Amino acid sequence: MTARTLILSALLLAPSSFAAAQSKPVNQMTTLTHTGTSDRVKSTQALQATLTELQALSLQTKQAHWNVSGALYYPLHELLQEHYDGMAKYADDVAERMLAVGSSSDGRAPVIVGSSNLPEIPGGFIDDARVLNFFTQQYATVAQRVFKRIKDVEDADPTTSNLLQEVEAALEKYQWQMRAHLQPTNTDANSGASLNGGAPVLNGGK
Ligand SMILES: [Fe+2]
Repeated sequence: MTARTLILSALLLAPSSFAAAQSKPVNQMTTLTHTGTSDRVKSTQALQATLTELQALSLQTKQAHWNVSGALYYPLHELLQEHYDGMAKYADDVAERMLAVGSSSDGRAPVIVGSSNLPEIPGGFIDDARVLNFFTQQYATVAQRVFKRIKDVEDADPTTSNLLQEVEAALEKYQWQMRAHLQPTNTDANSGASLNGGAPVLNGGK
């Protein structure tokens, strides 16, 4: 008798427990209170919202990784892949923290689309300057939301709060890496010489 046949036989011999398991698709472990949080609902709401936004950003960074065009194609293509990898890691950490505190996590596509509440990236080829502008704003928006959640769960669940701090620090780093391309430089980085407020230096700035 194979192991599979043994399991099937056991289920047939215990129809009542099998039916009970079917009618209640949770197990005891998912209903246990986790010692690390005194307010599981608050923790799971903060984590689920963050997960949804990280997944939305992941999809958008990949879309831009493929379609970015212009003089900055290659550095942005590479940078967007780094951001995608980072957000995939954090999304996994956040989702698994939800399981650790006793909740399921929801990573379904309709949930991402329906509840991330973020502007969608334009389709087709996307200009490098537009990529910079889009992600500078997008990362800032999500970083601000996560920053607020760090405070929301700080007292009830400091462990989740710490994880959200890591996520927020990464988002701020990604935001800076986009924003740095757009910041005007008033002086030469090497000599400190004036760059004429961004206007042409030769011919007296005319
Ligand atoms: Fe690629």
